[in-house]
Amino acid sequence: MNGNSEIISEIKAYYGEHRHTALVRSFGCQLNVSDGEKIKGLLSEMGFGFTEDENEADLIILNTCAVRESAEDRVFGIVGSMKKLKETKPSLIIGIAGCMTAQSHIAEKIKRSYPQVDIVLGTSAISGLPALLMDRLRGVRYGEDIAEYGDFSAAVPQIRESSFKASVPIMFGCNNFCTYCIVPYVRGRERSRRPEDIIAEVRELAAKGYKEIMLLGQNVNSYGSDLGGEMSFPQLLREINAIDGDFIVRFMSSHPKDASDELIDAIFECDKVAKHLHLPVQSGSSEVLRRMNRRYTAEKYLSIVDRIYERDPDFSLTTDIIVGFPDESDEDFQATIDLIKRVKYDNIYSFIYSKRSGTKAAEMPDGTSEEVKGQRMRELLEVQREISTEHYKRFIGRTMRVLADDVSKKKKGFLTGKSSEFIIVEFEGEPSLIGSFVDVEITGAMNWAVVGRRIES
Ligand code: 5AD
Ligand code: SF4
Repeated sequence: MNGNSEIISEIKAYYGEHRHTALVRSFGCQLNVSDGEKIKGLLSEMGFGFTEDENEADLIILNTCAVRESAEDRVFGIVGSMKKLKETKPSLIIGIAGCMTAQSHIAEKIKRSYPQVDIVLGTSAISGLPALLMDRLRGVRYGEDIAEYGDFSAAVPQIRESSFKASVPIMFGCNNFCTYCIVPYVRGRERSRRPEDIIAEVRELAAKGYKEIMLLGQNVNSYGSDLGGEMSFPQLLREINAIDGDFIVRFMSSHPKDASDELIDAIFECDKVAKHLHLPVQSGSSEVLRRMNRRYTAEKYLSIVDRIYERDPDFSLTTDIIVGFPDESDEDFQATIDLIKRVKYDNIYSFIYSKRSGTKAAEMPDGTSEEVKGQRMRELLEVQREISTEHYKRFIGRTMRVLADDVSKKKKGFLTGKSSEFIIVEFEGEPSLIGSFVDVEITGAMNWAVVGRRIES
């Protein structure tokens, strides 16, 4: 199907009766996790079983993230520790995939300093994995396929991690070039998938009983801008909403500069679309936003929030914030604190700025010490904790429809799930409920979740 069938047969023949197993570890965002599921799909076609134990694996693939330096350091640490493993088991094949590989200085570093690595596979080269692997099995010492940015999605099979939650990439790459961000350099320009392919995939997932469909893209709001006006993101949401089945639709991420009234209308009008919007603000200071090349001001952002709250004052918003962007002043940081107090997010994902070589921000002077950045981060989290605790109280007394997704790690006999608003809900229940929707009457609020009582229907 993906032009690999001959090589796949060769790989199967190579391993013969030996039950060959692979370990695939994905880091970073959900798009990368989705790529990891495709890598697994291809490996499964090659006859691999899967293991979580690196001592057992014949093949280990680290599917990496490049958004922050800490993620890269972690991968180098893991690869370093695999040197010993490889010495004790020379037949072990180690591959590095994902966003790190697309940076030439990283690819060079791997080649130079980590001889235990056999294969390097770019984010758009996943379908090239069988060929690289076969070369390696034939004795070629090192294989690399960084490929041009393409759209491999349709042709590659996928092994999904969950039997009830599925992510569906709707586009690849990013055109925005926020000055701190490496993504446009490692994932290339925006490419939208064909609407009919996306719709067919969602239809199939719904028919299989999937309960949550997460549409993924670096900026889903610009979906279709390369399709000549054929379909916009709000239109796509409406088409997906019309598909038969009992499922909830989520999407990530939305760039505020492209968050249109049509999008807001679609969220409110489509019954399957979650009543939650993840709208990364990054900073509350218009000056910092300008230097970030975000192409909106704090005022413009707040006007979108106001439009949403006019429709529903209790609507759930979450965001991403970068603390300590180069030369962020005390006033800039205070503007971020003021903004989160004004918006009252249900949750924020905050990151200390990480310098990414090759980006514009990496060239900007930065006089703020790491200590000050750390203090700001602690303050931000503290303020948000208070906001969440207070804001979650609005759900007390209401009934939420919750997709039960796991047993609670904190309370015996309890399950956790997510409401349409993307709020974590804890309630008493049997594990057999995992993967289904339940109604929960909310009785209390904590700073990270709400608790409630299941209402039997
Ligand atoms: N440093 C810190 N955080 C970053 N992000 C992206 N690039 C960087 C960086 N260089 C954050 C942004 C983005 C989220 C996915 O990661 O907040 O929205
Ligand atoms: Fe990075 Fe900005 Fe694109 Fe998001 S929109 S992936 S932050 S460049």
